[in-house]
Amino acid sequence: MNKKLYIKTYGCQMNVYDSDRMVDLLKPLGYSITEDPAEADMAILNTCHIREKAEQKVYSDLGRLRQHQTKRRESGEDMMIGVGGCVGQAEGQEIIRQAPYVSMVFGPQTYHRLPEMIAQMNREKEKKEGKKPKGLVDTDFPLESKFDSLPTPTSTASSVFLSVQEGCDKFCTFCVVPYTRGAEYSRPAADVLKEANNLVSKGALEITLLGQNVNAYHGQAPYSSSHGTNEWGLGRLIYELSQIKGLERIRYMTSHPRDMDDELINAHGEVPQLMPFLHLPVQSGSDSILEAMNRKHKARDYLEVIEKLRKARSDIAFSSDFIVGFPGEREDDHKATLDLIRQVKYAQAYSFKYSKRPGTPAGAMELQVDEEVKSRRLHELQGLLNEQQLSFNRSMVGTIQVILLDRKGKHKGQMIGKTPYMQSVPVTAPESLFGKLVKVRLESAHENSLVGALLSSDSANAMFSHMSESLERNDEV
Ligand code: 5AD
Ligand code: SF4
Repeated sequence: MNKKLYIKTYGCQMNVYDSDRMVDLLKPLGYSITEDPAEADMAILNTCHIREKAEQKVYSDLGRLRQHQTKRRESGEDMMIGVGGCVGQAEGQEIIRQAPYVSMVFGPQTYHRLPEMIAQMNREKEKKEGKKPKGLVDTDFPLESKFDSLPTPTSTASSVFLSVQEGCDKFCTFCVVPYTRGAEYSRPAADVLKEANNLVSKGALEITLLGQNVNAYHGQAPYSSSHGTNEWGLGRLIYELSQIKGLERIRYMTSHPRDMDDELINAHGEVPQLMPFLHLPVQSGSDSILEAMNRKHKARDYLEVIEKLRKARSDIAFSSDFIVGFPGEREDDHKATLDLIRQVKYAQAYSFKYSKRPGTPAGAMELQVDEEVKSRRLHELQGLLNEQQLSFNRSMVGTIQVILLDRKGKHKGQMIGKTPYMQSVPVTAPESLFGKLVKVRLESAHENSLVGALLSSDSANAMFSHMSESLERNDEV
């Protein structure tokens, strides 16, 4: 029977990857995706616990799902509700207590068991003659990796995610990830290469390697090297991935400044498929706050990494995450962050007010910062970051860029592609170009996107001779 599956994904790209894998897992059970929760036989919330707001959303969304579930039951149908992801991991049984209409709670490391959980729920339901049994909770950290049990991805998209690393051992004092995603784990390089080859054979032109600490990657090498090293770092993995024919673009996220080793930095200079854009969160520009955050590096170390990367690839563009109002943050700490931003000049960035998370060391720290102060600091920081983003985008106006058209735009006939520097460019283009790399001339810039005009293949060819000149101009950015 054809059954409908609704999945809502919160938070990071790793959750997007996990949701896609849940779809792959449930396809053989007869489930196909729906965007409409009202018609769902199965509804899954793949949740995020990183900040309090994200967690609260889950409970309000569950309330809405319940209404759909009730309506479906009234009309003789049913809806099984599952809560996965980091809220599932952190809250476990508490979710069933607060929302007894939920059937399954699971974490980021146990979702490969979904088919078993569904079968068990159905068996219990039969025993109870159709009445809903008590919800199942599966939030342990299994010894075997979920990757060994997941089916081959079925994606045929042109831009895809590939998880290579999971979890985190860094224990930044504000962060729940080490508790919800568990200890650091790197997939064996052979598995990553196999998955990448498969995705490229199905049409992927761009692969973004994912991991909470992706540049801490140290996967088992497919063979022992003559130097006796049996592990590959991310740099080596990228060199090897760049040998895959048809793979045009490689990206990775999210990185920690401490794990930017020379091999990875050199890859930025030597691997043309590695895109000149790096998300490298610094969180704060103040050394005392960085220390309280347990980041184990100083602002100067971060700036040195940025400099090395710029030496390797002069046009590389940067993005970062910032937290304002970490406990104990004073005005001069905030100013130090603004200073660091002025020195780096970011192409884009994400910034958040510090959010107290249960069980984390920073949650118990004294000197929590007032909400009003946090709001004012966030406003200042975002004002500066927005200025930098606009000026970065403006510096590209007049150049020709290659964009990968991988999203439909808001308007009819419109598609959106990303430049190598991760800028969004909506263009009017024929449907046949969806999923393709095309050349555009950038005509004007906004804060969050650039206006581009597609070059017809004739003019694209004519333009080709001028491209190196335009790209050189980008190098000065
Ligand atoms: N409060 C605010 N922001 C946080 N982040 C992680 N934990 C918290 C928190 N407790 C931010 C960090 C991280 C990004 C994914 O989320 O900036 O890099
Ligand atoms: Fe969280 Fe820090 Fe690990 Fe990133 S490095 S996932 S911020 S603990």
